[in-house]
Amino acid sequence: NYIANRSIGCFKDNKKNRLLSKLYSNFKESNSPKKCINFCLLSGYLYSGLQYSTECFCGNTEPDIKHKLPDSSCNMKCSADQKAICGGYFTMNVFETGIAKFSPQIAESQPKIAETKAKIVFLLTLNGRALRQVYRLIKSIYSVDHFYYIHVDTRQDYLYRELLPLETAFQNIRLARKRLATIWGGASLLEMLLSCMADLLKSDWEWDFVLNLSESDFPIKSIDKLTQFLTANKNKNFVKSHGREVQRFIQKQGLDKTFVECDTHMWRIGDRLLPLGIQIDGGSDWICLSRNFIEYVTAEEKDKLIEGLLKIFRFTLLPAESFFHTAIRNSIFCDSYIDNNLHITNWKRKLGCKCQYRHICDWCGCSPNDFKPEDWIRLQATETKQLFFGRKFEPVVNQLVILQLEEWLFGPYTDGYLNLNSYWQSLYHHKDKSSSSNQALLVLGSSLIRINSKSNSFQQFYEPGKVLEIIDYFDLDVYKGFLIRHEARFNENITLEVETWCRTNNQHAQVSKSNKIAKKIMQLDVSTDFDQKEQMSRNFPRIISQYSEPCLIMKLSSTSQVENSTITLNVVWTNPDDKVEDIGEMTIEDITVTSINFSKSNLKHPLMSGIWTVKILQKKSLIGLTKFLVIPSFNNTMTKDLNSSHHLDKLIANFYLIKDTCISYNQKNIRDIIGTYLGNFGPSYLTSKNIVKFNECKKSLWSSMSPDPKSELLTDYGNFDGS
Ligand code: UDX
Repeated sequence: NYIANRSIGCFKDNKKNRLLSKLYSNFKESNSPKKCINFCLLSGYLYSGLQYSTECFCGNTEPDIKHKLPDSSCNMKCSADQKAICGGYFTMNVFETGIAKFSPQIAESQPKIAETKAKIVFLLTLNGRALRQVYRLIKSIYSVDHFYYIHVDTRQDYLYRELLPLETAFQNIRLARKRLATIWGGASLLEMLLSCMADLLKSDWEWDFVLNLSESDFPIKSIDKLTQFLTANKNKNFVKSHGREVQRFIQKQGLDKTFVECDTHMWRIGDRLLPLGIQIDGGSDWICLSRNFIEYVTAEEKDKLIEGLLKIFRFTLLPAESFFHTAIRNSIFCDSYIDNNLHITNWKRKLGCKCQYRHICDWCGCSPNDFKPEDWIRLQATETKQLFFGRKFEPVVNQLVILQLEEWLFGPYTDGYLNLNSYWQSLYHHKDKSSSSNQALLVLGSSLIRINSKSNSFQQFYEPGKVLEIIDYFDLDVYKGFLIRHEARFNENITLEVETWCRTNNQHAQVSKSNKIAKKIMQLDVSTDFDQKEQMSRNFPRIISQYSEPCLIMKLSSTSQVENSTITLNVVWTNPDDKVEDIGEMTIEDITVTSINFSKSNLKHPLMSGIWTVKILQKKSLIGLTKFLVIPSFNNTMTKDLNSSHHLDKLIANFYLIKDTCISYNQKNIRDIIGTYLGNFGPSYLTSKNIVKFNECKKSLWSSMSPDPKSELLTDYGNFDGS
């Protein structure tokens, strides 16, 4: 009983005339200024198992609804595809507009007394390397009554490898084996969701709902409250609709364009007509779907509607944002539709819609921002609403708000809780399948441990071995540097694992003392991976390789007295041979407010390794400059030619500092080993005293090996430590 702008659909009645009169009376009720509408009954088979019909029936609601118009007045023709697609239900397409009358169902808030508790599968679709945050998320939503099914983007072997042992530790956690490269907005996202749902139906888990979450989601209510809510709403389907005019939504989403996913890119190949007779709907791809609806969409013997929709959505950008909505509204499940994705999403479109996915898809998509403590009021206001999750949360952007949320949900942490404000995130792991961007990271890591292994140029503490892992380290939401976990050979019998804490030396910026703008510069440095949405570089250690695309980042404090609030500066990039390689621009939109500005370079690859200079000029006067190091991407210079390795180490020592080193065994243990081998130290290695000199990693609060209980999962046998 709906009249929408494009179409009406989902009639559970198989009598054509009754359908038509229903349409007519609905239309009258809608007080539309237009008295007369044309409609076209495209196709559909009669659900009660009667007969399959593919007719195209055109008519007019006024003056006589039974009057069949001649075919020529019907400006739609049913193509074979359209017929296929609107199978499943009678679907009508209204040419002229009526007033949208679709009213989704209202969710219940309290379950009936005897209702058995709903069982939920949390389908975690994960990307990136935020392992400890994933543990923290699982910890916050974990219950033995529910299930956890994890899909990790196939390119993220680190996350997959580290999470796999969860399967043995927890009976209700499993990882999907069929993994896809689920690019942003890709058709593969829907393929992955459907494939995971089909796996779940085949599994021995008994569940009522599938609810998807990403690594940047976090609960804003307890899982008990969610369970209670879903228990009261069994068989309902939770999807959030866009809430605007349908045609505008279709255009903004690019639903009227065909996209093809290939080589991890969504290529836009042309315009298309959407099938008539289908109510297109969509919005968010964070959903919570009932088992019977999932059975319907994943059934091997597909309903014609689903078969047709799948065909279209295989070539659709952001398919999971519309497929389920459209399938619910046009099928037998239409009265199970609840317009709520159970999420509060931190949309800040001015920041989040900067066309940041151009390299992945031929479209300008938007992303929500990360929550920060200043957004707390919005989170707090969800208390009385039927919302259970928030997105997005990322500890590398802000961890304090996650802590605040946890304490709000679960009560305060105890005093003296270890490392409550620290965060570690792996940047490189020796087991990672190699990626060229890691080469410079490894060159840097190897150089730094070479420097670290010498107390001075004559004496060597240890012989540096393999770099095992490089880890970004944050404390109280401040980037504290990176840790290099590596092997250290103290003599032929003793190789121990040590961790060295390094940080960037950002003393390379100089600013003019006379220029007005220069006086406002708060930060000036060169990095890569500038995130326009979060207004920060995600390359925390500022590692620039010969294949990087460096950008200049300048933070300015506000200026009050100005003639012109928008200014454009010139940015000059000079290579280590002092040759100008590029001249770019940096536009400061409004210098009366504090701003973070960036300017991308446009340099030819490979960049010359060594020290580069970047200058900022206003007209012709120099405002400031900074230097940055381009690290060679291959370390053959280091292994073959000691002199150049010495040269590289000198350069690196100029741009990076070493803060501390710890050793990964307890000291008693080390003394025991050294005691055994004391007589065997060769001349170039040091005595036991030097090994013992390093602190134990478990006791060094900065070390990735120090305890991090907020992210530790508890099993029946104790802490889950991944082994
Ligand atoms: C926003 C919306 O919240 C989301 O509904 C829409 O699909 C895309 O835009 P956004 O922050 O842009 O989200 O995307 P992000 O959270 O990064 O990714 C969405 C999902 O895809 C996540 O589950 C993520 O793990 C996964 N993903 C993303 C991958 O698996 N691989 C990728 O390369 C990128």
